[in-house]
Amino acid sequence: MNSIVIAIDGPAASGKGTVSKAISEKLKFHYLDTGKLYRVIGAKYLEGHEPISVAKNLKTDDLDNYDLQKPDIAKAASEIAAIPEVRASLLKFQQNFSRKMPGAVLDGRDIGTIVCPDAKIKIFLTASLEARAYRRYLELQKTDKELKLETIIDQIKERDERDKTRSSSPLIAASDAKVFDTSNLSIKEAIDHVLYYIQTKI
Ligand code: CDP
Repeated sequence: MNSIVIAIDGPAASGKGTVSKAISEKLKFHYLDTGKLYRVIGAKYLEGHEPISVAKNLKTDDLDNYDLQKPDIAKAASEIAAIPEVRASLLKFQQNFSRKMPGAVLDGRDIGTIVCPDAKIKIFLTASLEARAYRRYLELQKTDKELKLETIIDQIKERDERDKTRSSSPLIAASDAKVFDTSNLSIKEAIDHVLYYIQTKI
């Protein structure tokens, strides 16, 4: 028997992480935030390490050793994420994870298109730039009161652009993904909509 794979993709701060985690808990599935893999390589790159060799030797323990939410790490993550060799090194790890029984939820940018093209359920979560930036602003305000909303809008816009236009695994909804726009949904509503959809499919 194969595991049930739920692929959740979307741009920065679209709610993927919160929705994916809630769904994995509800279904008792394993959960992988694939952005963390890119963020940890970005963090090491900022320390002067070579991203391709970091990606080849990545250990899961590394994921807990950094404050991965920082905006400079997000920017570095999206820069190293455009390197095809980095993506290729992470592919096996993500695909192996997706085989965990009884099922796995993976969130990222290319799960439904490249990592798990055969996923049973594919979801693409999106929201307006303003809604996404405001959510990220509220999150980051907890640790950095100085951060301005305008700065976050600019950072997310730049990252979206880089993620969508790179040649290796660009951010795009899979043709068979169900798209949800969460701009006007609370987090609870977003979780409920996605869960309802999943329950109609499994
Ligand atoms: O949480 P947020 O949506 O802001 O970002 P993230 O999911 O942690 O991803 C950080 C960066 O990693 C993204 O901007 C992408 O460039 C890259 N990434 C990717 O290329 N492919 C993935 N499957 C996940 C993340």
